Amino acid sequence: MRNLRNIGLAAGLALSVSVSALNAYASEPTVPPAPTPFPAEGKINYVARDSILEFKALPEYHEPDWVTEKYVKTGKLPPVKDRLPKEPLVFKTGNMQDGIGVYGDTMRHVIGGRPEGWNYGAGQTQGWGGIDIGLSECLTRTAPLFQVEAKDTEPLPNLARSWDWSSDGHKLTMHLVEGAKWSDGVAFNADDVMFYWDDEVVDPNVSPLNGATQETFGVGTTLKKIDDYTVEWTFKEAFPKQYLYAMAYGTFCPGPAHILKPQHPKYSKNTYDQFKNAFPPEFMNMPVMGAWVPVEYRPDDIIVMRRNPYYWKVDEKGNQLPYLNELQYKLSTWADRDVQAVAGSADFSNLEQPENFVASLKRAAEANAPARLAFGPRLIGYNLRMNFSANGWGNPDERGQAVRELNRNEDFRKAVTMALDRKALGDSLVKGPFTAIYAGGLSSGTSFYDRDSTVYYPFDLEGAKAELAKAGLKDTDGDGFVNFPAGTAGGKNVEIVMLVNNDYTTDKSLAEGVVAQMEKLGIRIVLNGLNGTQRDASQYSGRFDWLVRRNDQELTSVVQNTEQLAPVGPKTSWNHRAPESGEVDLMPFEKDLVDIVNKFVSSEDNDQRASLMREFQKISTEHVYNVGLTEYPGALIINKRFSNIPQGTPIFMFNWAEDSIIRERVFVAADKQAKYELFPQELPGKPGDKGPMD
Ligand code: GLA
Ligand code: CA
Repeated sequence: MRNLRNIGLAAGLALSVSVSALNAYASEPTVPPAPTPFPAEGKINYVARDSILEFKALPEYHEPDWVTEKYVKTGKLPPVKDRLPKEPLVFKTGNMQDGIGVYGDTMRHVIGGRPEGWNYGAGQTQGWGGIDIGLSECLTRTAPLFQVEAKDTEPLPNLARSWDWSSDGHKLTMHLVEGAKWSDGVAFNADDVMFYWDDEVVDPNVSPLNGATQETFGVGTTLKKIDDYTVEWTFKEAFPKQYLYAMAYGTFCPGPAHILKPQHPKYSKNTYDQFKNAFPPEFMNMPVMGAWVPVEYRPDDIIVMRRNPYYWKVDEKGNQLPYLNELQYKLSTWADRDVQAVAGSADFSNLEQPENFVASLKRAAEANAPARLAFGPRLIGYNLRMNFSANGWGNPDERGQAVRELNRNEDFRKAVTMALDRKALGDSLVKGPFTAIYAGGLSSGTSFYDRDSTVYYPFDLEGAKAELAKAGLKDTDGDGFVNFPAGTAGGKNVEIVMLVNNDYTTDKSLAEGVVAQMEKLGIRIVLNGLNGTQRDASQYSGRFDWLVRRNDQELTSVVQNTEQLAPVGPKTSWNHRAPESGEVDLMPFEKDLVDIVNKFVSSEDNDQRASLMREFQKISTEHVYNVGLTEYPGALIINKRFSNIPQGTPIFMFNWAEDSIIRERVFVAADKQAKYELFPQELPGKPGDKGPMD
């Protein structure tokens, strides 16, 4: 023990010597400072992948009594056994924190987004916060993998109940769950899968909400129907098992072809816009495969969802899921979600905005606190992303084009990253051990992160100014802001428009921090703050110079949304896409990143994958592919009356906690049930009808 401690001390000394040596040349790149350890409070119980669920027939099935009495006995619904697939998805009791549940109650969510409509496959948001996650069922499922031992990690079956690879690894045959139905009773089958693929993913005029394109599943990948319950993928690479992750939320969750297809321009007189907007928020009872169906919408007030009588998942006793009869989504703000969840007037929040940490922690620590609050790993991060397209994505004007050229200049990017005081940025959100210096690249909370492969340019304003001069920028008119060289954009002040999501306090605070710090460098930033929906539209169409963006799964899990790590396809990167009819104009280091990601996707060797990601991290941070701002842990806030919440659920990893907690298995014990249901004993009605069934 003593010896070990001494070794530790010696290593610590050696490190501090080398760090202070580096301090003499502060502008030299180094590794980021070790983040303050932030132990996750909930310990995850790691389990084997096959201990979570299986598909099998059970001797008997059950449903809430009121469903039998009010709907089955009156002939409005077939008996539950006839509404379920031959072999439903069965959640194993051993993996349920509190075991088999009971029916009743509701989970009251609060969201900051607003629904555009129900056409997820054509790119419409429902307002986020788990609402679309609850409507969607996807070929595979990854959110619950946070609890699976790393060596065992492969997406879970879902709508695809099993799959097999051809011996050469180029074909993947998927077997769909047989006899499952949409919430309106219509059969789910391969036609739904093919409609999503052919007419939404592959059709260039349609873009599903989370941006799935053909390349999301590999360049040249095809999909075909074999029979009603079998589809076959063909890949250019052999055994690209990585794409099983792309078949999970939110890139392969088919919508109801029987409702969508008649509105699609290929099969109707509709334009693509008319197709997209054919199911406005007022359109109730949209058929879903998810556990709850929207039955009520009041603008700026609430969306209510009731249990799907055809849901195809059960517990081991044969109880049809979900246990919760209702989900509510109050339409408010994201900050209000935290406030209401800790106060007990709502049930769930991902505490992700550090501005709310202190107040939430205080309230949750009180003896009578209605909600549990548990922090997880440091997986929430923000990057500043620069638009790297110099060949026309987003049609920039002369100034915009000149900014794109600057963004592609490495000296310029170094100037920007060196001018950022990340400690100050983090502290401006919250004081304490939460935020850490984040150099960009992979999140320090993912298992693929390697600090020694991370290149960090320490804060050094003078050094940054020198880099800016190297990039050819000088303040020629003495107003404190650098100008474009004569002959470029009229030699005017460099003015950069930075896109930011106004729905989040944190996004705005960080953006304002960046503006102030860039001003000290001599760069003028103009904020373009938009609501989430407009922000996405501007971003996807390339109408931005810079962008402040919360990180997505590619940086927190690496295996989910992997193709978004680099511009591997025309539309996979967040900040570098191809114009309408063109190629992505990759810079040399981006080509290396693309090669690494492609190799990673087709590799099955875990050591090789880890080493590829170290290389990715090195190249991406050294060349400042994106500019890290800050990273910190988030906490799950959940009302204490709920059972079956897996211990240690991170708010974000493979997906958001709304999916990771597996809401269809969550329940409220009989003695804790509250009377919050707005439509007690009601089931969804026919598609397009107002309100629930009568
Ligand atoms: C928003 C919220 C997240 C999470 C997701 C779910 O992005 O900020 O906390 O609820 O929606 O999609
Ligand atoms: Ca100037």
